[in-house]
Amino acid sequence: MAEPEEASSQRLTRRGFFAVTGLTACAMATAGAGVVFLDFLRPRVLFEPPTAFSVGRPEEIEIGSVVTNVEHRVYVMRLAEGFRALSAVCTHLGCITRHQPELGLIACPCHGSKFTLAGDVVAGPAPRPLRWLQMSLSEKGELIVDTAVEVPAGTTYRF
Ligand code: FES
Repeated sequence: MAEPEEASSQRLTRRGFFAVTGLTACAMATAGAGVVFLDFLRPRVLFEPPTAFSVGRPEEIEIGSVVTNVEHRVYVMRLAEGFRALSAVCTHLGCITRHQPELGLIACPCHGSKFTLAGDVVAGPAPRPLRWLQMSLSEKGELIVDTAVEVPAGTTYRF
């Protein structure tokens, strides 16, 4: 028995609808998997700022002075025997210390640790001295401090 023409066209439309829906679902799933795959291929790299930086020219730092580089959290000192660089990060819980020229000390505002200008612990809960950092002279004649390279305490540099 032949179906009426209108019912036949509805069945085709329904079939077409399911076909389009199915193809759309497959396309979306494939696109989603493609996005995840491309994200998987992207390198997971952390771009951190360089650890070595300039603190200026040697002649800009007077003998006997302590220069605090707040951005990089270091002290650069010029003594009669040469330059030294110390980390300003407290060895207790990582607070940023402050140079107190009136006391001739470096003090931590968090829990009261105190350090000499050589980084040795004088008071407080800090378990270790401040870190001494590597210094070098760039081709432009600028002092370079590298916070990633620790040097033995007492290391001074003559430039
Ligand atoms: S963080 Fe400096 S004394 Fe605690």
